[in-house]
Amino acid sequence: MLNEQQITRLLYRLSDPVLEMTLEETEGVLDIEIISSETVRICLALADPEIATAEFTKNIKELIGQFGFAKIDIELEYLPSEVIDRIYALKDNILSETSQTKFIAVASGKGGVGKSTITANLAVALAQQGKKVGVLDADIYGFSIPVLMGDMTAPKKENGIIIPGISNNVKVISMDFFINEGEPVIWRGPMLGKMIKMFLEDVQWGELDYLLLDLPPGTGDVALDIHTLIPACHEIIVTTPHQAAAMVAIRAGYMAQKNNHTLLGVVENMSYLALNGENYPVFGEGGGEKVAEMLETELLIQIPISQPSKNKKQYTSAIYQKEEIIGQAYQVLAQKLSNLVFIK
Ligand SMILES: Nc1ncnc2c1ncn2[C@@H]1O[C@H](COP(=O)(O)OP(=O)(O)OP(=O)(O)O)[C@@H](O)[C@H]1O
Ligand SMILES: [Mg+2]
Repeated sequence: MLNEQQITRLLYRLSDPVLEMTLEETEGVLDIEIISSETVRICLALADPEIATAEFTKNIKELIGQFGFAKIDIELEYLPSEVIDRIYALKDNILSETSQTKFIAVASGKGGVGKSTITANLAVALAQQGKKVGVLDADIYGFSIPVLMGDMTAPKKENGIIIPGISNNVKVISMDFFINEGEPVIWRGPMLGKMIKMFLEDVQWGELDYLLLDLPPGTGDVALDIHTLIPACHEIIVTTPHQAAAMVAIRAGYMAQKNNHTLLGVVENMSYLALNGENYPVFGEGGGEKVAEMLETELLIQIPISQPSKNKKQYTSAIYQKEEIIGQAYQVLAQKLSNLVFIK
């Protein structure tokens, strides 16, 4: 004979006729009571217990009946409306046809050029200009966005739905939220794709104007997964000014082109050091221009070298203030992107 837990597990596999999700996903199994070796009482919640009830209860009786229960009492209740609302909000996820969100991946064939810093600051600048913005930290192994953004309201998981963290009015999802502190992520390639898919589909992003994706360096699995999952993704290529670095950075641009992703342009980071009214090109010159020229796109902006002033003592957040020169540069970049036409 089955026990209550085993019956619950069996019922979990059934699908809510209206929501077309399993009862496990809807948390629709409310109570199981084995009254005798022959009788069991099953209490379930459905989006609408009036719809397809006959077939649904017949399925349950067949499923549980084969384990010797002659009398199966089924009570059906309504799922709470807030649960249904949440499920519908999620079904209508950021990848759905009706979504108006513009996707921007920040990529580079080269590591350490400032992709994550640029993603975080661009997101904040767009939010400051009144846009609804999210950041998906797609660097699963080397996640850094939550640390760079600074103070963050905690993300939550409710009924299988993930509510993003919020920092500087930007919604954030990162692998950082899903592992214990200090623990390395040790997954093989296919798991990365599953995680990115979950970050897109199971997160209640709400209506966003922009979702920025901070890509890991290079042209590996994650970049490929993003190309597949978000065919309408647009890309920004980040490089530093050194010509040799630029030739490595550009590979992400070639990959984007090969996957028919629209390039929005190039950001040259760490372009120069401003000292006493002079600009010193300490990391070389011309990389951004060269990448833009070779990819037949625009050099959107050159960002000088400097750390956020407000945080010099704390070294916690990498967000520049609007008043700083680099903060200004991000405002200009955000404005430029707002003026660009995105092709779906
Ligand atoms: N304009 C800048 N001026 C000074 N330091 C900067 C600037 N941009 C980024 N940095 C610093 O450079 C380092 C690398 O930046 P970041 O982590 O954003 O690069 P990344 O391209 O995301 O790296 P990875 O490839 O490892 O993901 C960080 O320490 C960051 O603070
Ligand atoms: Mg990074």
